[in-house]
Amino acid sequence: MRAVDAPSTVLVTGGAGFIGSHVVDRLAAAGHRPRILDARPSPWHDRDAVETAIGDVRRVDDVLAAAEGCAAICHLAAAADVNDVLERPHWATELNSIGTLSVLEAARRLSTPRVVYASTVWVYSDVDADEVDELAPLPPPAHLYTAGKLSGELYCRSYAELYGVESTVVRFGIPYGPRARPAAVIPSFVGRARRGEPLTIAGSGEQERSFVYVEDLAEGVVRALAPQAAGRTYNLGSDETTTIRGLAEVVRDVVAPVEIVHTEGRAGDLRGTTIRNQRAADELGWRASTPLREGVRRYAAWVEEQERAEVAAGPASAPVRAAAGDRGPSLPRRIAGRLAAIAGDPLTLGLASLLAIVSALLPAVTASHSRADAVGVMTLALVLLLPLWAVSVGSWPESLRRTQAVLAGGFGALGVLLSTSLSPEQLADVGRTRAITITLLLLLLASVARAARSRGARGIGERA
Ligand SMILES: NC(=O)c1ccc[n+]([C@@H]2O[C@H](COP(=O)([O-])OP(=O)(O)OC[C@H]3O[C@@H](n4cnc5c(N)ncnc54)[C@H](O)[C@@H]3O)[C@@H](O)[C@H]2O)c1
Repeated sequence: MRAVDAPSTVLVTGGAGFIGSHVVDRLAAAGHRPRILDARPSPWHDRDAVETAIGDVRRVDDVLAAAEGCAAICHLAAAADVNDVLERPHWATELNSIGTLSVLEAARRLSTPRVVYASTVWVYSDVDADEVDELAPLPPPAHLYTAGKLSGELYCRSYAELYGVESTVVRFGIPYGPRARPAAVIPSFVGRARRGEPLTIAGSGEQERSFVYVEDLAEGVVRALAPQAAGRTYNLGSDETTTIRGLAEVVRDVVAPVEIVHTEGRAGDLRGTTIRNQRAADELGWRASTPLREGVRRYAAWVEEQERAEVAAGPASAPVRAAAGDRGPSLPRRIAGRLAAIAGDPLTLGLASLLAIVSALLPAVTASHSRADAVGVMTLALVLLLPLWAVSVGSWPESLRRTQAVLAGGFGALGVLLSTSLSPEQLADVGRTRAITITLLLLLLASVARAARSRGARGIGERA
């Protein structure tokens, strides 16, 4: 068992997200050097203060580049909102399953001492028992979100058995606190109370729930780096339970004395399974120490602080908007953002350039007076298209993606410029020069060598 107790660099995937951002803060407070890998910049951290890699956790190369030199990876990047999973099942499952697989694979290749995997107490949803702990046998899950998260747990076990990658699984309870998604029940109740609106409960509100304050959770993740946590699974939830009615009363007491209204609703799950958190207490000395009332008070204070910051900052900054439940930029800005993303994507740029070159050269081929002229133009086309293909299709490290996109765009622009500025005869003449023929042969040889190398690499991977 290898320890991560000395101050170390620790990668947090999903470090820009709700829970991940608190893990980053907690790691820093514990003397570690957190590093973020996320698909977007963190709205909560200055990039100068916390090293950040923008990348896709599904791509092993991106994780490898980000995890280089890290003593541990806390893997939190995921499709965490079950509504997103319902709407985009394939994307979400790929992210939750393959994302975890990529993290474990990067840890294997880099010999990273520890992976801490963020799972969920949803894995107990299908267990038929009044009380469960980490030893409960888990039936196949009914929900796709649970299936994706559980697959991550299984991969952790397989990578430990087969390759000795040490991991710790932490099953999070329902989190709340600063930076929470505005649609979740506590942010929504707090938001309504602050606006003086009644708190609406469907049915009697006797359904029992257990919420865990996000900073407590983040502390649990940091403790899961301890040597004794290797190969272990821990529930990280609160022992305090409440009913939805009880929660509404806490919000009313702490935030504003608004009315609590009951609407028609299904009876619902009156009493869920009790999830025991004793193992984390015994082995890691961890307990969710923030009482619900105190957590709600801190969350409401944070929302207020965000709103004050918004007023001071003028037009809302991203974190402030998020706290206030804003759905983000307007449609034109979203379209502009999407176009910028396409411009930064080497494959899209490469394909667009390829089409542009082919369309520009096609008239020259059809206008050729002789077969030799047509062959000349087509040879030139191959010389322009082969490097473009090689640059656009290859999987480059994330840090070089911008260079890759610039090269793809550059080759494309050069090809179109050449094809449109020369006459068909001139293009055929260029295509017939000896230099072009030699370049073409070299490019073909390089392509064959590259294809053979990647076949070899795949073969080795399959045997392992
Ligand atoms: N929030 C909950 O109720 C809850 C409960 C139990 C477990 N969990 C688990 O905790 C973890 C964190 O959840 P959260 O609530 O902070 O989620 P979140 O949505 O706030 O954060 C997830 C982060 O992952 C990033 N991400 C998404 N796709 C990515 C990709 N392809 N590559 C890199 N980064 C990517 C997102 O940009 C985001 O910053 C997840 O693994 C989730 O399954 C969450």
